[in-house]
Amino acid sequence: MYLAQTMAARVGHDKNGLIIEPGAGTGCVTGALLKAGVAPERLLIIERSRSMVALLREKFPDIAIVHGDAARLSAYFPQGKHVDCIVSSLPFASLDAKTKGKIIAEMKKHVTDGKILQFTYMPGSEHILARSGFTCVSATTVWKNVPPARVMEFAARQE
Ligand SMILES: C[S@@+](CC[C@H](N)C(=O)[O-])C[C@H]1O[C@@H](n2cnc3c(N)ncnc32)[C@H](O)[C@@H]1O
Repeated sequence: MYLAQTMAARVGHDKNGLIIEPGAGTGCVTGALLKAGVAPERLLIIERSRSMVALLREKFPDIAIVHGDAARLSAYFPQGKHVDCIVSSLPFASLDAKTKGKIIAEMKKHVTDGKILQFTYMPGSEHILARSGFTCVSATTVWKNVPPARVMEFAARQE
């Protein structure tokens, strides 16, 4: 819960663009986003697990929820929308290299002036996003989470 609240508090409410949540799982972060005041119509969830999608659709009937792979983000991307934030619970450490590469390419394509929020349970090692064209602009450790988690905010690197 503390982790979800920390992620949600960093999204920003001063914009009206799309907030994409890949890997929403059981919807802890989704719930925190709504509680923090994010309008449901700004959200697009992409979740690979069929059972999680069924659960999410039951919990959040007003949110666009795609049963799919974040590596295919462009295929689900609504026309004419602009991404303000990607709130990712994707387990980068356990994804295969091909999927990781495709997800990062999709993030680069769609996050131009927006941000990516990503958490990790391995704060000691440099996150793959930091080696892939994104700059970590802020980070905080949620000590009350078990295990403690590091929430990082990334912005696209201007090259
Ligand atoms: C750490 S769990 C999600 C935690 C989430 N915040 C919660 O409240 O449960 C990671 C989720 O990412 C999903 N996932 C993994 N790879 C994915 C991919 N390539 N595209 C979309 N979802 C993916 C898994 O199915 C899982 O539900």
